[in-house]
Amino acid sequence: KPYVIGLDLGGTNSVFGIVDSRGDIKATTAIKTQGYLTVEEYVDAAFEALQIIIDQVGGIDKIKAMGIGAPNANYYKGTIEYAPNIVWAHEGIVPLAELFKKRLGVPVAITNDANAAAIGEMTYGVARGMKNFIMLTLGTGVGSGIVINGQLVYGCDGFAGELGHVIMRRENGRSCGCGRTGCLEAYCSATGVARTARELLATTNTPSSLRELEPEKITSLDVSIAAGQGDELAKKVYDFTGEMLGEACADFAAFSSPEAFIFFGGLTKAGDLIMNPIKKSYDEHVLNIFKGKAQFLVSGLDGSSAAVLGASAIGWDIQDDVNA
Ligand code: BGC
Ligand code: NA
Ligand code: ZN
Repeated sequence: KPYVIGLDLGGTNSVFGIVDSRGDIKATTAIKTQGYLTVEEYVDAAFEALQIIIDQVGGIDKIKAMGIGAPNANYYKGTIEYAPNIVWAHEGIVPLAELFKKRLGVPVAITNDANAAAIGEMTYGVARGMKNFIMLTLGTGVGSGIVINGQLVYGCDGFAGELGHVIMRRENGRSCGCGRTGCLEAYCSATGVARTARELLATTNTPSSLRELEPEKITSLDVSIAAGQGDELAKKVYDFTGEMLGEACADFAAFSSPEAFIFFGGLTKAGDLIMNPIKKSYDEHVLNIFKGKAQFLVSGLDGSSAAVLGASAIGWDIQDDVNA
């Protein structure tokens, strides 16, 4: 049986899956994304981890292609370019597809990580049969995949769909990894959520178990655990985050009138605590003509599967393409 490798390359973890043509993940492995100085060191570590699972499925002859979803990826060129959250791809243009192709000897395609998640949902998840939706990934960064009329939007250069970097605050905006200020990502990413918690701890008297932690060390996971225990301040953090996301989605609706917004990433584990404020704020901000039309869904594919499966799907697309 032939397989492809799907890689979900996130700001923190890189998850690899060996996937069959029905979308069943046969083997997985993971490495840390950070901690390497150069892309070559990263690819070496990836190759070492991959060899073990490739052997598990019967060797490299079974592997037809590889698909990668990564931040700031250029689908047309096979590169990652100026990725704010990845040290080895921060300064310039990194030919990641080419490097993996050399190591593995199979065709390799790369697309934006959130685009890959959108393709995963379209092919195997909650977006099956949908022609217009926007995927929003809430993790180390905030990413998006925009599907219009059944097609993922790539734009003139392969970079379209960077909705994490729309500007939500013109004045006193938080600084963003992209070098600008006030971006959605600076508020609604994992680090943005932790920062909101720190700000609320410093500026309000709301009681919170988070006050027992060292402020600089608070993470989005701490916020999520506290919220699960009914923590009032943690709930306020999600209210603020959800409000901003809902406002952003209202603007995105004006752009492409999606039938659904699909959320994916650690933040969605907060469930209604985050989804309810998103919907409420969306209703408050969206144009009348769009009211009540879009569904708000959470990815049904667990963990990072949506992105691994989406990446594998672009692998299947190019398996016969000798030039890829
Ligand atoms: C990057 C996107 C990416 C997102 C999620 C953002 O900072 O600009 O390309 O999709 O993070 O990883
Ligand atoms: Na995108
Ligand atoms: Zn930004």
